[in-house]
Amino acid sequence: MKKTKTLIIGANSTIAKAIAKQIVDQNEALVVVTRNSDFYQQDSFKDTTVIFLENYQESEIAHTMKAISQQGEVIISRVFICHGVLHNARFQPEKRLEDFSPVAFNEVLHVNTVIPMLWLKHLVPILTSKNPCKIVVFSARVGSIHENSLGGWYSYRTSKAALNMLLKTTAVELARRAKNIKLISFHPGTTDSPLSKPFQKNVPATKLFTPEFVANKLIAMIEKMEIDGQASYLDWQGSSIKW
Ligand SMILES: NC(=O)c1ccc[n+]([C@@H]2O[C@H](COP(=O)([O-])OP(=O)(O)OC[C@H]3O[C@@H](n4cnc5c(N)ncnc54)[C@H](OP(=O)(O)O)[C@@H]3O)[C@@H](O)[C@H]2O)c1
Repeated sequence: MKKTKTLIIGANSTIAKAIAKQIVDQNEALVVVTRNSDFYQQDSFKDTTVIFLENYQESEIAHTMKAISQQGEVIISRVFICHGVLHNARFQPEKRLEDFSPVAFNEVLHVNTVIPMLWLKHLVPILTSKNPCKIVVFSARVGSIHENSLGGWYSYRTSKAALNMLLKTTAVELARRAKNIKLISFHPGTTDSPLSKPFQKNVPATKLFTPEFVANKLIAMIEKMEIDGQASYLDWQGSSIKW
């Protein structure tokens, strides 16, 4: 039987690192793509294929996919696309309309929406086969248009809502041309990481998850999932979120 591999993209994210750790602890084959490979220098990742890229230009993404497809008979059964930005040295999420900045909006949209879509564009041709493959793209509950009653965080919300629409749209096409691929738009819940750090003080301790907890839930959840030609928008408990 051919061995399957897991691919983690944006593998320096805190949640990605927890997923990677659980996968190698289970002795499963792993390929990671990252802008910062320090974490993967540990001995436990000695059998992991680490692909370093400097940024996520489409040419680098295409080149990465070519490198993966040339690794012989690789069956990728799970993909996790983990990168995302909420704040950085240049911007914070908007509290009010007056905070809206086109420059920040474009950056958030590029990282959270355009880059995952570029990965999908270049992944689908190499993943299309008879072998089941589940692709998890990290979204967020705040991307739900249906659930938006709090407002604020204009750029981040919009980037995840747009990502969700792109995933839904891609699933319609894949149901025709790549029936072996299942797309999952995933909300991890508030998880302790640099992304959530500035916004944790009002989160009750029981609602602030460790990355290990989320990784565990996610891996177990997708194990049981059917390949059904649809995009699913799910939280860490496996419950559906209304788009
Ligand atoms: N943590 C939460 O509470 C929470 C809640 C809902 C959704 N999410 C989503 O879960 C995913 C993982 O988040 P996390 O909590 O693990 O966050 P994290 O530890 O802060 O990691 C963020 C990741 O995004 C990448 N990134 C940041 N800016 C980037 C840029 N300009 N270009 C390319 N990549 C960039 C980082 O790459 P480098 O390390 O290379 O900089 C890193 O891999 C994200 O999509 C996030 O939106 C998280």
